[in-house]
Amino acid sequence: MSIVILAIESSCDDTSASIIKNSTILSNVTAAQHVHEEYGGVVPELASRAHQQNIIPVVDKAFKDAGVTGDEINAVAFTRGPGLLGSLLVGTSFAKGFALAKNIPLIEVDHLQAHVLAHFIEEPGSDKKPPQFPFLCLLVSGGNSQIIIVKEHLKMEIIGETIDDAAGEAFDKCAKIMGLPYPGGPLIDKYAKKGDSEAFKFNKPNIPDFNYSFSGVKTSFLYSLRDRIKENPNFITENLNDLCASLQKTIIEILMDKLIKAAKKYSIKDIAVAGGVSANSELRKAVNREAVKQGWNTHIPKFEYTTDNAAMVAITGYYKYLNKQFAGQELAPYARIKNR
Ligand code: KG4
Repeated sequence: MSIVILAIESSCDDTSASIIKNSTILSNVTAAQHVHEEYGGVVPELASRAHQQNIIPVVDKAFKDAGVTGDEINAVAFTRGPGLLGSLLVGTSFAKGFALAKNIPLIEVDHLQAHVLAHFIEEPGSDKKPPQFPFLCLLVSGGNSQIIIVKEHLKMEIIGETIDDAAGEAFDKCAKIMGLPYPGGPLIDKYAKKGDSEAFKFNKPNIPDFNYSFSGVKTSFLYSLRDRIKENPNFITENLNDLCASLQKTIIEILMDKLIKAAKKYSIKDIAVAGGVSANSELRKAVNREAVKQGWNTHIPKFEYTTDNAAMVAITGYYKYLNKQFAGQELAPYARIKNR
């Protein structure tokens, strides 16, 4: 029997809906919110209002793209957390209402677990091989930086995580210091392509085990700019490409260093990267370079499945459906990370 699931993602500033048939994605529709650009970061109140405006048209398009009707849906999966509570409430309420109206099960999904399981999304006609268990997943987004051992689809162990800022946050905050709009990560990636990554040096943290820290890089970046701007007010514009390239190199070295250590310690050769920062072109190159050196099999999802999207919620919902892990109508969203 085929299982058809409607999935909703609304944890931050993307409203997304997806329909999956078993593990094959039939549609994945995402509406981004541009209202935050002028503020240098996501404004929670504006985000939840935009979700309310977007959710019905996004779900409607997901149904049309998939060629499926509401009566064919067997369950509704939704992101319960972590994320912005006001944003999560919109997706959670929609999912609950849909499940009640159709009298079908609800499935709660953890956003971070969904990023990891994005590697198992199948597209019609594709023959992409998923990672083999156990594999290591470097999960790097705007809110999280973790190294996870994935033992089974629904069994994961976090062996390292950031003790302060996430890698994406470091990109975004440093971009803001340079006067770039939010989200700054993709812009730093773009300008870095024309810059010299050896032009500037920024401090790297010395944190034990597999944990990360990015607040020191941000402070080192801020102070070195502040000193140079005193001497030359046009310093940023004159050196934008080199600043971006040097900062990007520092962040990627920090990420790769721990990933390589973890892969050696646990003797794992299947290495996956997930989350919005995995779109970074230099991080992708660094992972592929290391794959040749260390004999890794690397896995990076298609771009549309790396940033926030409902397809990853749909595939997680599918595995939870198979395990009969259903949720009750009484569930409330959660803002902070839960260990899975
Ligand atoms: O996974 P995601 O869409 O949302 C969260 O759950 O956080 O990740 C968004 C983050 C932002 O910090 C953004 O700047 C970063 O991913 N990002 C990038 C790139 N594309 C997105 N960072 C560096 N280089 C990129 N190409």
